[in-house]
Amino acid sequence: MKNLLVYLLPFLLWTCCTSQNVCEEPPDIDFGEIISGKKAAYIESDRVQYKCNHGCVLEGSEWITCSGQKWTPPPKCLAPCIVTKQQLEAKNLLLSGNRVRAQLIQHNHMLQFQCREGHVLTAPSDRKCLDGHMDLPSCISERGGNCSRPPAVEDGDIITLSKQQYKAGSSVQFKCQKYYALEGDNRTFCDNGTWTKAPICLDG
Ligand SMILES: *[C@@H]1O[C@H](CO)[C@@H](O)[C@H](O)[C@H]1NC(C)=O
Ligand SMILES: *[C@@H]1O[C@H](CO)[C@@H](O)[C@H](O)[C@H]1NC(C)=O
Ligand SMILES: *[C@@H]1O[C@H](CO)[C@@H](O)[C@H](O)[C@H]1NC(C)=O
Repeated sequence: MKNLLVYLLPFLLWTCCTSQNVCEEPPDIDFGEIISGKKAAYIESDRVQYKCNHGCVLEGSEWITCSGQKWTPPPKCLAPCIVTKQQLEAKNLLLSGNRVRAQLIQHNHMLQFQCREGHVLTAPSDRKCLDGHMDLPSCISERGGNCSRPPAVEDGDIITLSKQQYKAGSSVQFKCQKYYALEGDNRTFCDNGTWTKAPICLDG
């Protein structure tokens, strides 16, 4: 009897598993859930449907299929970005129309910023939300201390007029010498007596 089982078992397993092609539980995804009914076992060609949480954007196919004992790739639910009133106030930022209020922005949507009076924006004013991440621009006060000579950039030149003193909020622009590539912002700002980070020129 025992001998018989030893011979039969592989055969039984083979029939069970090749004829059914069972897939594992469908994968969990962040910010989303499965909305088609769950099953105890999934066989070849079974399909499962996902839905993203409110405010998230679905990327990929909302349906996945059990195919060759594996699921086709599940979708992604891309998160929205939140900008709080406190963040805006702390960074001296305003939204369009001079408003200061919390905002929810969907993935891939833009939000436009400006600075409070007496401040200058150091980066593009339009920011895009990418899967829950958005870099807020910085505002530099025009009321801080003056700056002296701007930092030198190796293999780069300052292309704006050179001065003895620079007022807070003013900027100088850099350009890399031929065959060098600029990394970072091509400007540096006078921020209350010190210059913001200068770009670097990379040997390209
Ligand atoms: C500039 O820096 C000084 C000293 O660090 C500080 O007291 C002052 O409030 C700053 N001014 C602005 C406009 O940030
Ligand atoms: C800052 O610089 C401006 C011009 O660049 C000058 O008029 C002003 O007097 C300077 N302020 C101080 C405190 O040095
Ligand atoms: C500096 O960077 C801005 C934004 O990236 C770009 O529009 C501008 O043309 C650049 N200026 C120079 C001189 O490279």
